[in-house]
This record gives sequence, structure tokens and C-alpha cells, in this order.
Amino acid sequence: MENPWRPISISLSPNVQTDDVKLAFSLLFGKKNNFVEVKPQQNLEQEFARYLEVKHIYAFNSGRSSLMAILAALEMKQGSEVMLQAFTCNAAVNPIRWAGYEPVFVDCDQNYNLSAADLRKKITKKSRAVMVQHTFGLPADMDEIKKICDENNLILIEDCAHSLGAEYKGGKVGTFGKAAFFSFGRDKMISCVYGGMAVTDDDELARKIAAFQEKIGNPSRAWTNQQLLHPILMEKIILPAYSILGRYLLVLFQWSHILSKAIHWKEKRGLPPDYFPKRLPGELAILALNQLKKLEKFNAHRRELAKLYYNELKNGDFVLPPKLNDRKAVYLRFAVRHAAAAEIIRKSWKKNLLIGDWYRTPVDPFDTKPETVGYKKGTCPNAENFAGKMINLPTHINITEYQVKIIAEFMLNLNKL
Ligand SMILES: Cc1ncc(COP(=O)(O)O)c(C=O)c1O
Repeated sequence: MENPWRPISISLSPNVQTDDVKLAFSLLFGKKNNFVEVKPQQNLEQEFARYLEVKHIYAFNSGRSSLMAILAALEMKQGSEVMLQAFTCNAAVNPIRWAGYEPVFVDCDQNYNLSAADLRKKITKKSRAVMVQHTFGLPADMDEIKKICDENNLILIEDCAHSLGAEYKGGKVGTFGKAAFFSFGRDKMISCVYGGMAVTDDDELARKIAAFQEKIGNPSRAWTNQQLLHPILMEKIILPAYSILGRYLLVLFQWSHILSKAIHWKEKRGLPPDYFPKRLPGELAILALNQLKKLEKFNAHRRELAKLYYNELKNGDFVLPPKLNDRKAVYLRFAVRHAAAAEIIRKSWKKNLLIGDWYRTPVDPFDTKPETVGYKKGTCPNAENFAGKMINLPTHINITEYQVKIIAEFMLNLNKL
């Protein structure tokens, strides 16, 4: 029988299954040194390299640390401009500033990705790099963006935090630029709560990323344990009792630092927490590898559910995600637009349907201080227009087709609520 207290949720440990919980438990409480003879980080790096077919791969404790490694290795002049789209997360912007570069915001297009037209307009003498984000798992227009980069001698970096497994004209995202990074954060394509990967085919850049990885060291044991506890407490205590006690326990566990938050309060003020940049600890690499083995299954599921959402919602008044025929999207979230998004989300939460609200502001989360990330109002009208109208629907492995139908029914009958 369905547990009535367990929510349908987009972001509370979405990718975690029973085997992941058991694995986290054994890594936390099992006999230590079980894994000393193998190097889990290297295993993960090798598997990932095989999957993506890239030459050089380096594991870090987040997408943020991976981006920090790439930016440091690029050794551009301080103050160089790195162009990225608005309609993003402060986690993509802060590492640029921490590296001593200047983020320049480019508007997004109707696909929620970097607008090539606005990119052309915003190039200056100080522009050195472009970071392209495949938002919600929808691949960006790589031909056009690559062309602009080539014409203007700009380095192309791919932010694949949302898009592991997506393809553009038959090529996997993460293989189009000079370097790319991925995230294994708690609500990404695969998860080890905190983790990421920097990749490149450029031997010289790879040498510098490796030196950076060597230098920074591991996060503390306590920090690693905090991440290992996450899937266990979520699955065993918080989610099963979410609507009665679980949600309060989640706040309590995060407040008392038993569990981590995805974004530290310091980052909302533009400051780095002390656990970035760091390497990926072995225990989290083992969790990530277990998830990587399930990636194809996860992504096939996401695509199936997306098909179902398109069909179920076709008669509603929502702007559905663009269908891009030359690209294989992976739908990290099935993002729809509606003028009353805030109200719809509020109503859904009351019904224990925890649908998502990425992005409420051009640089999310909404309580990020805009001046600390350098976003100037009025510079990216599409991003400002879309922000606040977004409703993200879950596509992860723990969502069933039946639950998609429940969500769709809720969305289509809003005026009756
Ligand atoms: C678009 C985007 N880029 C980069 C990141 C950073 O990834 P991570 O959370 O692994 O540091 C995130 C995640 O927060 C993101 O949403």
C-alpha cells in the first residue's frame, strides 16, 4: 500500500534506490578499509571516461570544484570575461568570480539555453571564455555557439550539470568544448550527494587540472560522513514520514549540520565555503559509480516520463519544453511555464506534491544577493521573463507513470482547487 505521508518529490534524494542506501550504510558503518586495495576515484574516472569517450577525467567533490579546477587550469588574465547565460544557479557563477574572472550574463533563448544572438552582442575585448549550459537536460545550439567561439577566439566550456547523457547531433554533451564539467549533486542526473567531474581532451589543460586536483586534498572525514548519512536518513526517516514529522526533521538535521544543504548560505553572498575546492572522497566515488552504472536506465526512464507529460499536458495552458529534433534531451526536470507558477507550486506543496521551482530569478536561488554575482537588472529580458513562471516536474527513477498522471491531473484541474 502507498505510504500517504511520503510526498511525490522532485528534489529530496530523487535518484536514491535501495541498493544506494545499503551501500551508503556499509560505507559509513561497515568494516573500514574494505576498499583500500582499490582506488574508487580512479575506478569512477575510468568508467566515466569510457562512457563519455574523452581522454582526461578528474573527479572532484562537486561541479563547483570541477569548474574551479578548469578555470584555474586555463590561467587566463585576472579580470578576463567569462560569458554565461542568465537563468542559471549561483553555483555556476561563483566559481568564475572566485577564480578572479568577471562573469558576463548572456540572455537565454526559448530553449532556456544561451542565446547565440545575445552572445554575439555582448562580446568585448576582455571576453576570453564562454560557458554553455544545457539547461534542464535540453542540449544547447552547439553549432552556432561553437562558430561564434571560433570566430572570436573564445574558449568553450560546457556546464553539463543538468545533462549527463544528452546528445547534440549524435555527439554527447561534454565533448564539444575545450573542457566540460558534470555534477553528481543530490538532484542531478546521478547523485552521490556532492560530487562532480572535470573532463578535457586537451593534454596541456589536463596536466594543469591534475596538478590542481593533487594540490587541493580531500574534504574532512566529518564532511564525507555527513554526505553518506544523506541517503540513509532521507530514505529511512525523513521521506516515509515527510508530511507529519519528516519535513521538520529535515530542517532540524540541516540546522544541526547532521545533513548538508545543496548551497551554503555563504554562496548566496558570493563567498566560498571551506569544502570547495576539494577532491572527491573515495566513499562518495563508490556511490557515484554505483549510480553511473544505472545512468542509461535512469535516462530511458526520464525520456519515457517526458513523453507521458507531453501527452498528458497537451490540452493545458502550459508552455511545454521545446521538442528539439536534432538533439537527444535527458529532461533532468520536465520544465513547463505558466504565469501563475508561484501559486500553482504553493498549492501543489499543500497536496504533498513537491514540484520544483528552478529558476525563480535570473540567478537562482532567489535569495542570492544579485550584486554579489554581478547580475544587472534589465540585461537579460528573456531570463527575467521566464524566471518565476517555471514549474519543474519530476522525471527521476522513483517517479512512476501513475504518479505522472496524478501530477498531470492536478495541473489540469487547478481552477477547481
Ligand atoms: C547549472 C548548474 N551549473 C553548475 C552547478 C554546480 O554543480 P554542483 O552542485 O555539483 O556544484 C549546478 C548545481 O547546482 C547547476 O545547476
